[in-house]
Amino acid sequence: MKHPELAVLILAAGKGTRIKSNLAKVLHRAGGRTLLEAVLAAVKPLGARAVFVVVGHQAEEVARIAEAAGAKVIVQKPQLGTGHAVRVARRKLSRGFADILILPGDAPLVRTQSLAELLECHRHAGAAATLMTAILPDPTGYGRIVRRAAAVERIVEEKSLKPDERQIAEVNSSIYVFRPPKLFPLLERLGRNNPHREFYLTDVIALLREAGEEVAGYTVADFHEALGANTRAELAEMDRILRRRKAEALMAAGVSIYMPETVMIDADVSVGADTTIEPGVQLLGKTKIGRGCLIRSYSVLTDAIVEDRVTVRPWCLVTQSRLGKDTVVGPFAHLRDGAEIRPGARVGNYVEVKKSVLGEGAKAMHLSYLGDAKIGKKTNIGAGTITCNYDGVKKNPTRIGDNVFVGSGTELIAPIKIGDKVYVAAGSTLTENVPSGALAVARARQVNKPGWVRAQKRIAAAEARRPRTRKTGQRAGRRGKKRSRRR
Ligand code: UD1
Ligand code: CA
Repeated sequence: MKHPELAVLILAAGKGTRIKSNLAKVLHRAGGRTLLEAVLAAVKPLGARAVFVVVGHQAEEVARIAEAAGAKVIVQKPQLGTGHAVRVARRKLSRGFADILILPGDAPLVRTQSLAELLECHRHAGAAATLMTAILPDPTGYGRIVRRAAAVERIVEEKSLKPDERQIAEVNSSIYVFRPPKLFPLLERLGRNNPHREFYLTDVIALLREAGEEVAGYTVADFHEALGANTRAELAEMDRILRRRKAEALMAAGVSIYMPETVMIDADVSVGADTTIEPGVQLLGKTKIGRGCLIRSYSVLTDAIVEDRVTVRPWCLVTQSRLGKDTVVGPFAHLRDGAEIRPGARVGNYVEVKKSVLGEGAKAMHLSYLGDAKIGKKTNIGAGTITCNYDGVKKNPTRIGDNVFVGSGTELIAPIKIGDKVYVAAGSTLTENVPSGALAVARARQVNKPGWVRAQKRIAAAEARRPRTRKTGQRAGRRGKKRSRRR
């Protein structure tokens, strides 16, 4: 899609009073993106010559998002309404664009395809303006479209509706295309004679009609696309719709998702064909999952890279980490901050891996903490092994070679290096490096005391037979004797 004569203007300066938040409305999230990012993403494939975003509330943060998407920023301060926002942008828009597509920053459900159809409809009609409208089951709160015969006459905002206009189900999406020379002169004529004391962009439509211009309407088939997120409840509903769309797109591309209504997959996540996603899974951020994987219930993956044929068992947390092909992790594994599980390696239950590499085919199956460690190929990390990486001041590295056997319950006091093919005896606390091929034993030698248990029992029985003293109820013991000797 290429629209080289098109400018896009996204209105994102408002606070969003009804959402009751300190955060500007367009910074709220649905489907794993801010509302503004969702609108920017819908617009991008249109190939417009320029995209502008009007910012005001929390201008810095909103501008950062706009610029990250390649848009240019226009500041509107104070915010005196949608008509005022366009007026502020006017100078930047007067640079020979054939059309201006205007969208609100709070409409994250709009699809690129519908925007393309709106533009097509506009060109076909040769109109001064074309509105995207929708028929809503409940139009409350939206500007209503008043038509005469078939032609759009004007838009009436909710608070100014006459009783007979309330039933109008066709609403303004706030998405429009204008021909700049027709729009600009009318912006000066907008007034604030309305309940909000704002300059309404919607008033431009009646002004165009009075000037004898044609205004076309394009009614979008899926009315959800016209919805704006004005309240938290609407935001939650949009989030649900976006996630269902994402799940449907993945299923269409060959991913199996069971009970898709229970999974949460962010917009920027990718999943390869023949991967199965079980109920309750969350795939967040920029997570990338390969082909033929199995992601089992209640696992949460954030900015994770998962190669092909990986199994993530239930209840795992994987954050900013990489799982190589054919790895198996979990249940209850916690991989974070740059953990790298190389191909064929395995991580079992209650194992935490932080900023560490587990080499190809290596295993850490039970109850371990591996932090700031590099572990070689085919090494076995026994149950309960802990890398003691923190000395109270800084983090220290652990290196373990290939084919090492680390016995259960081992503590590795970092910094430390263990060579290849080393055996570490279970229960060791290692403080020194171990050369390749060595056995390391670092624990107190065991002492057995024959007959100790029976001897203890005899002592206890003798104790029980001694008479109790009257005052304290305690058995007369050595202390009592001492006291009587002192007397
Ligand atoms: C607007 C329309 C209404 C339409 C509805 C669809 C007007 C007067 N009304 O109402 O007909 O049915 O959208 O969702 O336009 N903004 C600015 N600067 C401002 C004011 C607003 O940039 O001074 C931005 C907001 O950040 C928001 C967008 O414009 O992204 C729309 O504003 P909002 O207050 O949500 O308008 P609605 O009352 O929903
Ligand atoms: Ca709105």
